[in-house]
Amino acid sequence: MTIGIIGSGAMGAGIAQVVAQAGHPVFLFDLNAAALQRATVGIGTNLRKLAEKGKLDSADAEAAIARVRTCSELQCFAACGLVIEAIVEELGVKQAVFRDVEAVVPASCVLATNTSSLSIASIAAACQRPERFIGIHFFNPAPLMQLVEVIPAVQTRAGLADETKALVQSWGKLPVVCKDTPGFIVNRIARPYYGEAIRLLEEGVADAATIDWALTELGGFRMGPFALMDFIGHDVNYRVTESVFTAFFFDPRFKPSFTQKRLFEAGYYGRKSGRGFYDYRDGATTPEP
Ligand code: NAI
Repeated sequence: MTIGIIGSGAMGAGIAQVVAQAGHPVFLFDLNAAALQRATVGIGTNLRKLAEKGKLDSADAEAAIARVRTCSELQCFAACGLVIEAIVEELGVKQAVFRDVEAVVPASCVLATNTSSLSIASIAAACQRPERFIGIHFFNPAPLMQLVEVIPAVQTRAGLADETKALVQSWGKLPVVCKDTPGFIVNRIARPYYGEAIRLLEEGVADAATIDWALTELGGFRMGPFALMDFIGHDVNYRVTESVFTAFFFDPRFKPSFTQKRLFEAGYYGRKSGRGFYDYRDGATTPEP
């Protein structure tokens, strides 16, 4: 089955790598030619590194790389059996893309969104055939993270969630089916977690590096909350926080912070822009306290 991916940023490129490694021909679409170029280079580098480390046969790595084709016209999705969208976290933009995608894909093509926080029902509602619409939510970086949330909307046809779960499993992932509620499982739990970490920082209880250190060294977390927010990107993370807060009818448990908002407004998106809670401009990673 050929798979189309819309958006070749951090998530789209990662998802393209996962499904290409699983044997699917992939069409990776983006409006931004530089993003497509970065994704191609990134996928090639990742897969060849795995081959160098002996974790992947080098012929398999080259075959997976060859399966990913980039495109700047949605027409490339004309023979796709599944299209997964991973573009900017804005409802109107996602809805518009799916309207265009539906005009080119076969009637049998399943449509999926990788949204972190928007309602699957609201994106499906923009489609002519909302019964073939579902959420497939990967985590960053998609090739490494095992968990995938599979989220049927109220409009999704019976059986599609189980079929999608089996497909995701065939990619070597651990899917979990969950209800279409704001943030699903992980991003719902993550909002108060990040929020409380930022409150600790704002109250001067400790600095970001100390809080991160405590949670990784003593709490057993792989990354502390500040390093993780910088890794996700404050553009993505702020939008998700705002969206979950709004979707929960402004429940204060999910309230965004001004600290987070200012980083977003300043374009301090974290690792991807060189500055966030930490400074990465000299190639530094997370500093120790
Ligand atoms: P990103 O900013 O790295 O990439 C988004 C890409 O979409 C860019 O290359 C941009 O040029 C492209 N794009 C934007 N509008 C487009 C359009 N109309 N048509 C085609 N391409 C378009 O963003 P990232 O981090 O990959 O996130 C994408 C989606 O995945 C968002 O919905 C986000 O909430 C979700 N997500 C993000 C995670 C993360 O940790 N970054 C984790 C899981 C989901």
